[in-house]
Amino acid sequence: MKTRSSARGEPRRLGNMGLLALMLCSLVALSLIRARFAPIGSTTGAEPVIKAEDPKPAVVVSKAAVATDAGDNDVPDEVAAVAVEESKVREDKQAEEAQPKPERAAAAAIVVDGSKPVCHETSRRSDTCEAAGDVRLLGRSQTIYVDSLEREWKTRPYCRKHDAYALSHVKEWSLKPHPSGDGAAPRCTSNSSATAFVLSTGGFTGNPFHDYTDVLIPAFITAHRFGGEVQFLVSSYKSWWMNRYIQIFQQMSRHEVLDIDADDEVRCYPSVVVGPTFHKELGVDASKAPDGVSTADFRRMLRSAFGLERATATPSGDRWDIRRRPRLLIITRRASRGRAFMNERAMADMAGSLGFDVRLGDPEMSSDTSKFARLVNSCDVMVGVHGAGLTNMVFLPAGAVVVQVVPFGRLEWLARNTFAEPSAGMEVHYLEYVVQLDETTLSEQYPSDHPVLKDPMAIHKQGWDALKTTYLDKQNVRPHLGRLKNTFLQALKMLPHGRDD
Ligand SMILES: *[C@@H]1O[C@H](CO)[C@@H](O)[C@H](O)[C@H]1NC(C)=O
Repeated sequence: MKTRSSARGEPRRLGNMGLLALMLCSLVALSLIRARFAPIGSTTGAEPVIKAEDPKPAVVVSKAAVATDAGDNDVPDEVAAVAVEESKVREDKQAEEAQPKPERAAAAAIVVDGSKPVCHETSRRSDTCEAAGDVRLLGRSQTIYVDSLEREWKTRPYCRKHDAYALSHVKEWSLKPHPSGDGAAPRCTSNSSATAFVLSTGGFTGNPFHDYTDVLIPAFITAHRFGGEVQFLVSSYKSWWMNRYIQIFQQMSRHEVLDIDADDEVRCYPSVVVGPTFHKELGVDASKAPDGVSTADFRRMLRSAFGLERATATPSGDRWDIRRRPRLLIITRRASRGRAFMNERAMADMAGSLGFDVRLGDPEMSSDTSKFARLVNSCDVMVGVHGAGLTNMVFLPAGAVVVQVVPFGRLEWLARNTFAEPSAGMEVHYLEYVVQLDETTLSEQYPSDHPVLKDPMAIHKQGWDALKTTYLDKQNVRPHLGRLKNTFLQALKMLPHGRDD
C-alpha cells in the first residue's frame, strides 16, 4: 500500500523537517564557532582545543602560591635521553573519553607573584621564567627587556636542565630590566597583545620521544592557559622539525610561529614566558598543571591538530564494515638500525589468522606526520620493539592496546620508564613481550657462555653506552609465534570488538 492516511504521514514529515532545520542550525552555529575560535592556519574541521573566553590576555597580579617541585621521580636524564634513540616518528595517538570535559575557564594571564622569583624551577627538568609589563624582545641577541624586573635573569628554555649535552645545543636567553635613562630601551617595531612564549627546539629534538617529552607536551602544559593568545618564539629553530609539528603549534596558538634567533624586530608584548614546564615522561600531571589540564587534553588537542577521528577504540556500528575487525599495527624498523623484527611477515600472518586486520608501518620511512598519525589512530593494537617509534602511542584511541616488545638484556626498567608508565595516562592498555635468549640475534653473535648472553647486568655496569651498543643497536629479534600469539590473544580480549558476538 503506497498511500497511507495523511494523518499518519504528516507528523512524520513535520518531524523530518524539524530534524533537518535543527541540523542546519547546528551547522551554521558550528561554522560560526569555528570561524571564531579556529587557530590561524588550522586546516582541520575538528574542534579547536584551545578556547578563549577573552581573546585579550589579562595581566593578573596575585599572590597565588605556585608549587615548585624538586622531587619528581623521573628517569635519569642520560637514560631517557638515549633510551629512545634517535629516529623520527611522527605519530602519536590520543585517546580519551568520548565526552569532552567541560572547558575550564582559560585564565589567560601571567601571574606575577612577588614571593616567587621571575625564573624558578618548575621541575627537576625545567626552569620557567614569567614576567609582565613593558616587554621588549630582541630575538637575534636572545635578550628580553622587561620594565618590571629588578635584576637580570638567564635561562636555557629546554626541559633537560641538568643535561649538559642537551643544553649545549640550546641558546641562553637573558631577561633584563630596561636600561636606565629615558628612552634607552629599544623602540618597538612590532606590537602584540599576546603573551610571548620563548622555547628551544635544540637539545635532543628529532627523536620523537624527546620531541614530545621535552618540547611538545611541556609547551602544551605551559601554553594551554593562554587560550591561543600566545605567540611561540622558537630558538634553535629547524624548519624540518617545525614542518613535522606545525599543526600542533597552530592548534595551540592563533599567532604565527617565529624563528626567533633570526628575527631583527624589537617585539613588544604585555607579558612573556621563557621556558616550558616539564611534568613527567610523555605526559601531563593534572595535579601540577595550573589549569588542571591532563594528558587526555593533550591527546584531544593532537586529534584536532591532525584531524584524527577516533577518540576511543570502538568498532564501527556497521556489521559489514571492514572496521568491525580490530586493526593491528606492527611498527617496523630497518634491521641495520637494530631492534628489527626478523619475522614480521610471519607475525603478520599469525595476527591475521586471529582475525586482525594487520598493517605494517615504519614511522622513520613516513615523511608525513599526519598521515602516520591517522594510520595509528585507525588501529586498535600497536606492536613494536622498545624505541622511539612507540611514541606513536599518543595517537592511539583510548582503550587500544600497546604491546612493547622488550629486547633481550634485562631492559624491563627502561621499558617501564619510557612507555609502560606513560601508557596509563593515555588510557591505553599495556602489554609487554620480553624477548628471550632463543629469540634474539645476539645468540648468533656471541658464544653461549659470553657475559652478553649469560650476565646482562655485567654489561649494564659498564655504563649506558655499552648497554646501548650491545642490546639496543646490535640486536634484532625473532619472537616465538606461539608465545606472541598468546600476547595477541590477550590484547584481543582487552578490546571492545566482538564482545557482543
Ligand atoms: C607600539 O606601541 C607603542 C605604545 O603604544 C607605540 O608608541 C608604538 O608606536 C607602537 N609601535 C608599532 C610598530 O606599532
